Amino acid sequence: MKRVGFYTLGCKVNFAETEAMKVQFERAGYQIVSFLEPAEVSVINTCTVTGPSAHKSRKMIRRAHRKNPQGIIVVTGCYAQGFPEEIKKITGVDLIIGTHGREELPGLVKGLARQRPQNLVVPFPKKASFEMLPPFRQRGRTRGFLKIQEGCTAGCSYCVIPRTRGPLRSLPPEEAIARAGWMVRSGYREIVLTGIHLGLYGVDLGAGEITLAGLLAKLEEIPGLDRIRISSLEPTDITGELVEQVLGSSQVCPHFHIPLQSGDEEILERMNRRYTLSEYKYLVNWLRQLKPDLAISTDIMVGFPGETDQHHRRSLEFVQQVNFSRLHVFKYSPRPGTRAINFSGQVPAKVKDYRSSEMIALGNEMAKAYRLSFIGSTEEVLIEKVSSAWGEGFTPHYIRVKTTLPGKSSCWQGKLIPVLLEKEEGSTLTGVPGLQLQI
Ligand code: 5AD
Repeated sequence: MKRVGFYTLGCKVNFAETEAMKVQFERAGYQIVSFLEPAEVSVINTCTVTGPSAHKSRKMIRRAHRKNPQGIIVVTGCYAQGFPEEIKKITGVDLIIGTHGREELPGLVKGLARQRPQNLVVPFPKKASFEMLPPFRQRGRTRGFLKIQEGCTAGCSYCVIPRTRGPLRSLPPEEAIARAGWMVRSGYREIVLTGIHLGLYGVDLGAGEITLAGLLAKLEEIPGLDRIRISSLEPTDITGELVEQVLGSSQVCPHFHIPLQSGDEEILERMNRRYTLSEYKYLVNWLRQLKPDLAISTDIMVGFPGETDQHHRRSLEFVQQVNFSRLHVFKYSPRPGTRAINFSGQVPAKVKDYRSSEMIALGNEMAKAYRLSFIGSTEEVLIEKVSSAWGEGFTPHYIRVKTTLPGKSSCWQGKLIPVLLEKEEGSTLTGVPGLQLQI
């Protein structure tokens, strides 16, 4: 039996696509092995959102070749789509294919004439369609990703992703519901909806057809689907309809991840983000008025070209004021083909490092305070992992919890249980099963 190993870099969309590619190879008769084992085929699903992620993608391609010098190396994903010429230069690469046209990937590998390397990356056609990869199920998992949207045309000045992910496309609602139903029937209790510009789900399907809120309403009707999470939403896409749908639902988690990128007005404008700080603040205040304990997390970038110490201070202050439940901190990285690469005032690496450590420290502080605010309360935890004495999982607000379990712990895998949260242990809260279970 032929073997295939996968390595995935980057975002949730990439991870979801890798899982789908595994199914393709399984169906074609391959055995899936770990990336470190000998294999006839290695697939590296790359990322290029920052310079370091492209660098790591190259490193993993070289590692795959060293490990399996006779094996076929397939390079796919955003780095492949955006920069195939760079990948062509790496020894050992056999097939380069980007972020679309992978519907028959095992067939392409089989037909490979090994005239190294074959570059199958093509630009996105204007009327590109949603890439239909097979549905998948990760074994033993209770939480799974469902990609419902592809592409971005927002044009943030720092971002290379519009080039690597093409125009806006949405998975038709019937198909999204069918896939979600299939995931639930095969064991998932929680579905994380992902996309590149997720908030624009539906816009390409025709006026008035469907929105993300409309899709959520339909997904909620699937029996057995305990939880739905939304991965990331631009502030400008959060509509009244969506807020009502999310906050009024017992299944959609009370958590919004809303990328801010900078807490300084001038920098925000140069990033070509299409909102002001007061609009962002207004949005957050509105959401918190409706649900005070709502989890609001964000992406924030430090060291954007032209960012002075003063801008950075203002950004820290704004972030502190908003008081996020969690921060993802990125150091600005110049990307070829973006406007910001030519901006004056590029910030030295050492300064970025320092600013990033300050921002991360603030993020840790805020996350801790947010976590601690739940101590003493009882929250539902979806048990994802069990050991002999413990179960582990997340609350709807995305706080990681470890709890003791009554009876045989393996029975609790994939179950929702109320947990009385008692103490902090690192970045996890520990607790005991809540009242309803102890009776
Ligand atoms: N440099 C650093 N971070 C970036 N991101 C996007 N482009 C860049 C870049 N050039 C970050 C943004 C985005 C996240 C997914 O990646 O914060 O929200």
